[in-house]
Amino acid sequence: MTIESLPGSSASLVTKKSVTYFSNPYVLGLTITAGIGGLLFGYDTGVISGALLYIKDDFEVVNQSSFLQETIVSMALVGAMIGAAGGGWVNDAYGRKRATILADVVFAVGSLVMCAAPDPYVLIFGRFLVGLGVGVASVTAPVYIAELSPSEIRGGLVSTNVLMITGGQFLSYLVNLAFTEIGGTWRWMLGVAALPAIIQCLLMLFLPESPRWLYMRNKKAKAITALAKIYDPDRLEEEIDLLSDVYVEPGNSVSYFDVFKSKEIRLAFFTGAGLQVFQQFTGINTVMYYSPTIVQMAGFSSNQLALLLSLIVAAMNMAGTVVGIYLIDRCGRRRLALTSLSGVIVSLFILSGAFLLQSSSARSGICGSLNTQGSCGGTNLGWFAVLGLALYIASFSPGMGPVPWAVNSEIYPETYRGVCGGMSATVNWFSNLIVAQTFLSVVALIGTAGTFLILAGIAIVAFAFIIFFVPETMGLSFEQVERLWKDKAWGTGDSQQSLLSEEYEP
Ligand code: BGC
Repeated sequence: MTIESLPGSSASLVTKKSVTYFSNPYVLGLTITAGIGGLLFGYDTGVISGALLYIKDDFEVVNQSSFLQETIVSMALVGAMIGAAGGGWVNDAYGRKRATILADVVFAVGSLVMCAAPDPYVLIFGRFLVGLGVGVASVTAPVYIAELSPSEIRGGLVSTNVLMITGGQFLSYLVNLAFTEIGGTWRWMLGVAALPAIIQCLLMLFLPESPRWLYMRNKKAKAITALAKIYDPDRLEEEIDLLSDVYVEPGNSVSYFDVFKSKEIRLAFFTGAGLQVFQQFTGINTVMYYSPTIVQMAGFSSNQLALLLSLIVAAMNMAGTVVGIYLIDRCGRRRLALTSLSGVIVSLFILSGAFLLQSSSARSGICGSLNTQGSCGGTNLGWFAVLGLALYIASFSPGMGPVPWAVNSEIYPETYRGVCGGMSATVNWFSNLIVAQTFLSVVALIGTAGTFLILAGIAIVAFAFIIFFVPETMGLSFEQVERLWKDKAWGTGDSQQSLLSEEYEP
């Protein structure tokens, strides 16, 4: 190893500083191809609410049973939970590339099964398969992208997968809106998702396996060939040196139980899974799944307007994610998440306030619901709620959307990256399921104002969680992150401070 290539030396800083998001089209191409997994994730979670309207038309038994309707919606989340957990293991045992191809095949088969379903039970089976595929993709895409990213743009590249998720949601709302008047289209709406899965599968056949996974599996020559496509010769030497320092646990892939055996892995998993819990329990999917309902609760009665507003919410979510991609490697994960949460807390208070004013004015007989036409006590409450919703998305999307996925793709040591990332994605899907399944019942029980207040309380706890537990990983190499956990677990030195200064101070 030459002096110039020592990580943290000023020479390495020169090479590192020159890497930007757009500077390597090959890496960007790999990222976008892997991000098709995110697109499937977003499209699948968004399209079902629209498709369900037509499924009910075709299957009377579904129309009659809210249990069947709920099962059709939530079976994909159940599949995703299982897919994420199993997918983590597949990632470590068989590699990121094979895991992606597996996700695509299962997803495509699931989409075609739904498209051809003769009855609701086959449809539910198709939803389960599609969920399995989405679950595997939700762990694989961030890990694959993180492992091929130069560390100084890793956050932005992993967040590109989140942009694909929000893009998929936008696309699905567009499809929902386009088909509002046409019956019998649900088969197309669900079946067409097989196409991106097939495209990704074909593209992946020509793309390299993750160099880090190859190295870990002792396929060093292949790993170096893959790295050579990503880095210029100076930087390549530095990256190979870093990789050769990686400690790989002997034997086969680690098991789920191994995660809990060592203190530093437990700590890293607690942090990663905690972020995933808070991403979901601050209510993003109550907004993504129920924004038309929330808009209607606020007094806008037209269906078309409600759907249009939810399309705007999805577009804002995408735009905000782009801001996140720009900021995550500039201000750091912690600052971005904390700023994001501050806005989320304020907007949840605004939403809660708007609905509280509505119910108290309804009780005192001043006005019946939040409305857009008349003013209520001098305040236009309907628009007040919509403002809360817009501020919520504008605050959430650059920070709490991408940061949990980015942090989870980079905080685990090589041998545990798949298994821990998968378990933590399972925690995300499980939390998603709980929040989505209980939101409307909690609203019925304690009212909309109280529900948003609870979410605000959770967001405050999330703020404290990030302050106390989440380390800053911006710009650090995987090896530095690994050292950081060891130091945290065993209390050896102020690693965070020294790593950041090693990285950024000449
Ligand atoms: C979350 C999804 C959510 C999406 C909304 C993602 O980061 O994991 O659950 O639907 O953001 O944009």
